[in-house]
Amino acid sequence: MAKKTRIQRVTGMHDVLPDDQKYFERVCSIAKSLVEFYGFSKIDTPILEEAELYSKGTGSNTDIVQKQMYTLKTKGGDVLALRPEFTPGIARAFLDHGMYTWPQPVKLYSSGPLFRYESPQAGRYRQFNQFNLEIIGDSSAVLDAQLIQIFYNILSELKLKNLIVEINSIGDHQCRPYYKKLLTNYFRSRAASLCADCRRRVRENPLRVLDCKEEKCQRIVSQAPQTIDHLCDECHTHFKSVLEFLDEIEVPYRLNPHLVRGLDYYTKTVFEIFCEDNQKKEGEEFQPKIALAAGGRYDGLLKLLGGEGAGAVGGAIGVERIISLMKSQEVKWQENPNPQVFIAQLGNLAKRKGLRLMEEFRRAKILVAESFGKDSLKVQFKMADKLGAGYTLLLGQKEVLEGTVIIRDMKSGKQDTVKLNKVMEEVKKRLKK
Ligand code: HAM
Repeated sequence: MAKKTRIQRVTGMHDVLPDDQKYFERVCSIAKSLVEFYGFSKIDTPILEEAELYSKGTGSNTDIVQKQMYTLKTKGGDVLALRPEFTPGIARAFLDHGMYTWPQPVKLYSSGPLFRYESPQAGRYRQFNQFNLEIIGDSSAVLDAQLIQIFYNILSELKLKNLIVEINSIGDHQCRPYYKKLLTNYFRSRAASLCADCRRRVRENPLRVLDCKEEKCQRIVSQAPQTIDHLCDECHTHFKSVLEFLDEIEVPYRLNPHLVRGLDYYTKTVFEIFCEDNQKKEGEEFQPKIALAAGGRYDGLLKLLGGEGAGAVGGAIGVERIISLMKSQEVKWQENPNPQVFIAQLGNLAKRKGLRLMEEFRRAKILVAESFGKDSLKVQFKMADKLGAGYTLLLGQKEVLEGTVIIRDMKSGKQDTVKLNKVMEEVKKRLKK
C-alpha cells in the first residue's frame, strides 16, 4: 500500500503560533502608536500588483526583481506579482488617488506580509512582515533625519539595546553617473576576484557590487572609491544637513561609505539599522550583517511611475528580525493583565451555570478565565493559579443544586459560600478593596 505523505508547509514560510502572536502584536502596537503621534495614517495596498510595477519601481536589474519575485499569470493573461516590498505599491496608490492634492507631505504607514524567493536562512524568509513608513511630497533633509529617528525610537521603545544606524549618500542623477564610471573601472580591473553575480553587476549596475554579501567581493569593495567623495554640491549639502539633524536629536549613527541598498529607486540618503550584538566578533567566521530596518530617499520614483516628480523618503522594519532580537535580548513587558476571576466547575449542570456566569462577567467588564473542557478540579485550580487569577468561583454539583457558589481568594486560600444570584455583587465588592 502506498505510504501516506503529509503535506508540508512551503519552504521559507512560517506558521505564527499563539506564543509568537504576542510579539507581533507588541511590535505593531508600539510602532502604530508612535507613528500616529508623528502624523502618519494607515494605508493598505493589495498583495497582488502588476509585476511591471516592481520591474519599473524596484528596478529590473535588482535581485528582488530578477531572482526573488513570485510572479503568476492569471487566466485573463495578466502578469501579476506577490508584493516583494511596499514602496512601489504605495507610490502607485499615491498617483491613483491624486494624493498630490492632499496636504503635503503625505505620511503613510503599512504593515503586512511580503514575499521574496530568497535562500532561507536565519533572518531571511520567503514570507515575512514589515512595518513600513513613507513620507511623500517633500525633499527636505530634515525629514530624512526625522524618519530615521522614528525607526530608532520604535526599536528603542521595544527595549532593544545596542542599536546603530549606518548611513550614506548615494547621490542623484547629476553625480551618480560619474561615480558609476569610476566604480566600473575599479571593479573591471579586479573582475577575476569577484563572484559570478558581481561580474554581471559590474556591467549592469556597479553600485550593486558594493552591496554584495560574498566575503571575497566585500574584500575588494573595502578599497573601492566612495560615493561620499564624489557627490555634487546639492547632494553634499543635503547629506551634511541630515547628519547635523541626527547630531541634534542624538541618534547614534556611523557613516558607511559602501552602503548602497539593493533597490534601484534610492537617491541621496540611504540607511540601515543594526544591532551591535549581531556584528562580527574577532576571530569569527565572516557573516553577513542582518539589518533590522532600512530605507532611504527616493525622489525619482513617482516620475518613473508616470507621475509628477515629488520628493519622498521611507523605510521599513523587518518584523521577524525584531522579534528574534527581542527574544535573544530577553525583552520583557507587561502582557495582558491576569484574569480577575476563574470559573471552575464540576459536572454538566455546573458547566451550564458557568457559561451563563461567564457572560455576566464579560458584560460587567471583569476579566474572567475558564477551562470548561476540563473535569478535574485539581487541574482547574492549577490553571487558575498559573493564570494568576485573583478569585476562583467553584461551582460543584452540590452548589448548583443549592443555588450557591464558593468564592476562593487565591492569595489567602480563604473560601466563602455565597448565593449564585449575589456572586457578581460580591466579586465587585472584593475587587474594589
Ligand atoms: P529592504 O531593505 O528590502 O527595504 O527591507 C527592509 C527590511 O525588511 C530589512 O531591513 C529587513 O529587516 C526586512 N527584510 C527584508 N527581506 C527580508 C526577508 N527575506 N526576511 C525577513 N526580513 C526581511 C525595503 O523593502 C524598502 N521598501 C524599504 C523602504 C521603504 N524604502 C523606502 N521606503
